Amino acid sequence: MIVAPDDAGIRRAVELLRAGSVVAFPTETVYGLGADATSAAAIAEIYRLKQRPSWNPLIVHVADLPQARALARHWPAVADELAARFWPGPLTVVVERADGLAGDLDTVAIRIPAHPVALRLLRASGLALAAPSANRSESISPTTAQHVQRSLPEVPLVLDGGPSSRGIESTVVDLTVSPPRLLRPGALGLRALREVTGELVLPDGAVSEAADGVARPSPGMSRRHYAPRARLILAEDPDAVPRGGLAGPVAVLTYEGRGPGDEVLSADPGEYAADLYAALHRLDDAQAGTILVQAPPDTEDWLAIRDRLQRASA
Ligand code: TXA
Ligand code: MG
Repeated sequence: MIVAPDDAGIRRAVELLRAGSVVAFPTETVYGLGADATSAAAIAEIYRLKQRPSWNPLIVHVADLPQARALARHWPAVADELAARFWPGPLTVVVERADGLAGDLDTVAIRIPAHPVALRLLRASGLALAAPSANRSESISPTTAQHVQRSLPEVPLVLDGGPSSRGIESTVVDLTVSPPRLLRPGALGLRALREVTGELVLPDGAVSEAADGVARPSPGMSRRHYAPRARLILAEDPDAVPRGGLAGPVAVLTYEGRGPGDEVLSADPGEYAADLYAALHRLDDAQAGTILVQAPPDTEDWLAIRDRLQRASA
């Protein structure tokens, strides 16, 4: 059920979370499927609903810095510097895990989201909320409450906070190593990140080539991910792709200056990211059989977008 994030909606969400159930809530990146991070049963429900493989751990969302530090066995100085600069915001840090959280990893991924509804829910519940994106595993992340409801109709409550402003998942950085290591490019750009971290180790080729199910540095970096129902093909020039043999209808997704296509996104990477998943959801809804996507520029500003498109086309 989709509900407004007013007092009654927040109260109902808190009741569900305290009872060990799950609630979907908006963040500035994508919608999350949240559960009490200290409840193994509640977290098991997330994995069941998402059909998420158990080797892929969840990000824990908190309201403030003291709550974040309490989840860590060791809180490095660089984490304080990153938090001061980028939290609340689309940055997730991986640090050594304190005892008492559900799960058996040595590390924990933490972020403070920058959405007022997420922060209200976190404060009202007093809980740390483990929350992956609120979509079935391997499908497109949701950027509206309606996307969540369609992907996961069994979720008892979806707080509607409007469309996510960033539209792409948080940047994930491993702070258990020095220099810090990028695990997933995301909404926070590398230039801003390096202003705090200095040197930053990038994954080989920026996109992991590991086969699914094989151990990999960031467990969520499976090759096929973020995929629409339609087959997605990345092309320098979609018009040059022979259409014979492609499942129809064939849709085209381009960006300004390179269009015109059926769906034209902004030539600004931030604006492009904000609309990308919504555009893929629209093309899925329109029953596209194939989506030809104009490959964006091969520059760092477009790294997270290229990463998601490459995974969606794998
Ligand atoms: O923007 C976001 O990060 C959204 C919103 C809801 O906050 N959440 C999200 O969660 O994208 P999810 O579960 O779809 O992706 C979490 C990523 C995965 O790549 C996962 O492998 C990685 O974070 N991760 C989580 N815990 C980790 C850990 N302890 N060590 C390394 N990577 C971890
Ligand atoms: Mg996800």
